[in-house]
Amino acid sequence: MSLATQGAAQGESQVNSGLQNKTFNITFPDAVIGAEVTGLDLSKPLDDETFAQIEKTFNERSVVCIRDQNNITAEQYIAFAKRFGNVEKNFLDNYHHPEHDEVLLVSNIQENGKDIGHADAGRVWHTDMSFMECPPRATILYALEVPVRDGVIRGDTNFASAAAAYNLLPRETKEKLDDLVVVHDVFGRRAKTGTGTQDNEKRKNMPKVKHPFVRVHPFTGRKCLYVSPGECIGVEGMEEEDAVQLINEHAKLIVQEPNCYRHKWQVGDILMWDNCAVQHLATFDYKWPDERRLIWRITVGATKTM
Ligand code: SIN
Repeated sequence: MSLATQGAAQGESQVNSGLQNKTFNITFPDAVIGAEVTGLDLSKPLDDETFAQIEKTFNERSVVCIRDQNNITAEQYIAFAKRFGNVEKNFLDNYHHPEHDEVLLVSNIQENGKDIGHADAGRVWHTDMSFMECPPRATILYALEVPVRDGVIRGDTNFASAAAAYNLLPRETKEKLDDLVVVHDVFGRRAKTGTGTQDNEKRKNMPKVKHPFVRVHPFTGRKCLYVSPGECIGVEGMEEEDAVQLINEHAKLIVQEPNCYRHKWQVGDILMWDNCAVQHLATFDYKWPDERRLIWRITVGATKTM
């Protein structure tokens, strides 16, 4: 099937990679986003031709999982992430990898009574770091431990296509939204409790930023709704109440079932998502701290939105 397919897709594509000298598979779930790659080994150098296939799939499908990367080092994971853009050092520096401060640990594991990683990441639907002037093109996760209870994998990550949501809007609504500018505030949706609160001092110093209501995707040109509740606190030229209502109404449209895809983790997964084209939400259905979850997280490719 064509990788250019943007609708619900289910299928498989076999690609002959160069330097890795083997065939890898790309399969597509029955959803408007998502792709699964098997047969790649990221502990080996990724030739340009193979990378181009992965990047094309990523731009077209917005969420890509590369399975079975059980033997890669932190350096190899970082090297792969760098192919998608400059790696950013996360402004939250409490939970970084001991040797690589660009890698943030997302985890429910505690050592000596303390969280070893960010335990709250992804509690609400959002796109990563829209409170920055140049939010990251991609977030790239690597699963080291995945909770399983009675044979059932826990801690799925949910995705929703902001491009599909825009596409479904009536023409008049598209025209109304196309030129709107939204104000984002890191504190807008922050709970004042939880494991992230020690970062609040840092958040306080972050200025509000502006992004378009409808973002044009920097690689595909597709238009994507770029609003989430809470973090988006206003629309230029509108009364606050009307603005928040408009934001919330469209944020809800993004996360409707037909736009969604749910990722079931396996240890060794590298899962990446496109922060312009999708929003994501973690599932907290595992017990703390015994059902352990440990994920490394990198964001790459700071991107101007307008
Ligand atoms: C995140 O929102 O960055 C993490 C998502 C997850 O842990 O599933």
